[in-house]
Amino acid sequence: MSNVIVAPSILSSDFANLETEIKRLENSAADWVHVDVMDGHFVPNLTIGAPVVKALNKVCSIPLDVHLMIENPEKYIKDFALAGSDIITFHYEATKEKTLEVINLIKSYVDIKVGLSIKPKTSVKEIEEFIPLVDLILIMTVEPGFGGQKFMQDCADKIKEVKAISKDVIVEVDGGINNITAKYCRDLGVDAMVAGNYVFSSDNMKEAIASLR
Ligand code: DX5
Ligand code: ZN
Repeated sequence: MSNVIVAPSILSSDFANLETEIKRLENSAADWVHVDVMDGHFVPNLTIGAPVVKALNKVCSIPLDVHLMIENPEKYIKDFALAGSDIITFHYEATKEKTLEVINLIKSYVDIKVGLSIKPKTSVKEIEEFIPLVDLILIMTVEPGFGGQKFMQDCADKIKEVKAISKDVIVEVDGGINNITAKYCRDLGVDAMVAGNYVFSSDNMKEAIASLR
């Protein structure tokens, strides 16, 4: 068993019973809780915002890994920081020339880790200069927007490219992770994995999470 971090995405959880779902994750040895924030603009779907993160923070004892799939993330960093996020990851495609500014804004909250994410069509080359400046790189292995999509293997190959640039940065993958695709990512040296559908549709959450490691 590896010590890869498993971050189940509550996008596939029962939204009417979030506290119960968080407890189930904690009791199943999840490392982080992944929170998918979507704005209906950057991605064609709407999910949850900072007030929900604040509520989750009250009942959650493991880190909240907040994935912002939103335009103009700089407008909302403060809200998500004060809500109790432990990691805030935003998308390079949403910031481009203001990427450094947003990294520094998140860094101004000293206890919060900063993550930068890329969609499937964005190359590692495009974000190379930012890799040494962040704590985490989130490689999307599906087009962001929805849970339960098929894993894109060629995107996972970016794990090696990022690792070649920095040994220190946490490399996380997101999208289509199950016991088989997880092994593919582990073999490439991934540090953390998000899994929504696979974890929440299983009959035994603890076993499902363990199978990813
Ligand atoms: C996709 C989200 C993912 C998603 C993963 O836009 O960022 O976190 O919930 O879901 P699965 O594991 O079902 O592909
Ligand atoms: Zn995500």
